[in-house]
Amino acid sequence: MDASEFRRRGKEMVDYVADYMEGIEGRQVYPDVEPGYLRPLIPTTAPQEPDTFEDIINDVEKIIMPGVTHWHSPYFFAYFPTASSYPAMLADMLCGAIGCIGFSWAASPACTELETVMMDWLGKMLQLPEAFLAGNAGEGGGVIQGSASEATLVALLAARTKVTRRLQAASPGLTQATIMEKLVAYSSDQAHSSVERAGLIGGVKLKAIPSDGKFAMRASALQEALERDKAAGLIPFFVVATLGTTSCCSFDNLLEVGPICIKEDVWLHIDAAYAGSAFICPEFRPLLNGVEFADSFNFNPHKWLLVNFDCSAMWVKKRTDLTGAFKLDPVYLKHSHQDSGLITDYRHWQLPLGRRFRSLKMWFVFRMYGIKGLQAYIRKHVQLSHKFESLVQQDPRFEICAEVTLGLVCFRLKGSNKLTEALLERINNAKKIHLVPCHLRDKFVLRFAICSRTVESAHVQLAWEHIRGLATELLKAEKE
Ligand SMILES: Cc1ncc(COP(=O)(O)O)c(C=O)c1O
Repeated sequence: MDASEFRRRGKEMVDYVADYMEGIEGRQVYPDVEPGYLRPLIPTTAPQEPDTFEDIINDVEKIIMPGVTHWHSPYFFAYFPTASSYPAMLADMLCGAIGCIGFSWAASPACTELETVMMDWLGKMLQLPEAFLAGNAGEGGGVIQGSASEATLVALLAARTKVTRRLQAASPGLTQATIMEKLVAYSSDQAHSSVERAGLIGGVKLKAIPSDGKFAMRASALQEALERDKAAGLIPFFVVATLGTTSCCSFDNLLEVGPICIKEDVWLHIDAAYAGSAFICPEFRPLLNGVEFADSFNFNPHKWLLVNFDCSAMWVKKRTDLTGAFKLDPVYLKHSHQDSGLITDYRHWQLPLGRRFRSLKMWFVFRMYGIKGLQAYIRKHVQLSHKFESLVQQDPRFEICAEVTLGLVCFRLKGSNKLTEALLERINNAKKIHLVPCHLRDKFVLRFAICSRTVESAHVQLAWEHIRGLATELLKAEKE
């Protein structure tokens, strides 16, 4: 493909994408295929001779689209949203064209510098304490990770290094192995499974703190666990607080947990993967109060802030905690400005070396929506979830299972878990809408998450009528 064909095909592709987005409502949200559907549809090896673009694009409709779950359909209410906007798609195209690998300032200065500035912009949108911003002379700063899972892991590994160095400085005879077997990290029993995985990968114990009646981690339960473990000779070093848990969007009590972390000198990481985007609205910002106690904070603009995957925003108060933890400096990666103190080599902040020019997506989206446009987007989703909540409340056969704060509603049929399980089966077999469940304590619960950029009140209304209709059929069948 030469440049002139690229111009032509590129325009066709933009049309295909715009048609896809405009027509997505007409596509069945969840595919009909069975596992293994694709292999028989394509050759067993790559072609020896080139295929044409036409052949490929025809196969997209024939082979790929039948197996796609349409996350951007206004009838998709599963998991949490994943962001999609035209400015982000265009920026991603430019990112692909520049195609730099921005592991250091010298590897592409704009890639590094735009990221630092965008993370400051975003930090200011959230009213993060000054300490988290890089500014011109700050000790903190932000980095774009690929996912919240990576951010938690990077924070845990940095905290592990920090505590190990502190203990070895106090007792030079202590080996790393002796320290490692005593280290303990904590999160609530509602934390995402990626937190437990970070513990597994980091080779440390991770303990689940029982959450309270509102599914929040509270001071007393955390303090109790810390006292018990210290008495047993263990070394608490890391706490993850979740703002907006995956199951029910509950909020750990930061104002209680934060001071304990300061008192005990343990690293506090905040995982606000989904909910973080809402903090750009002043009315939701109080949910972030207590962030000043944290060492690191992370959320995913690629979930709810219209910046397409991947873009996970992570800030640290002291960037040397990260950069000092994983630093290796082979000669082929060195450059003459790296010790100037003015610039950041992001390779020291993350697990991989390579990194894309992801800040372009933030820049395009923030400029083309403006803060007001982004706030309006968040508010609309929250209004829609409250609409769904009130529809559920009007039907005495159903119950709401957790407080609705942002765009997620947890609900179920009153009665046995089997009943709600059967309802979910009917919902997902019908494939008009798509939902996933969760467990809240011993209850099987349906999660209705407002996801699509184009979802409107009418879609929510239709989804609810569909669910009610299936519930009526189910309850009738149960009686017969
Ligand atoms: C609270 C929370 N943390 C972490 C994650 C994992 O996010 P990622 O896919 O960015 O690793 C999720 C995903 O939904 C989440 O809800």
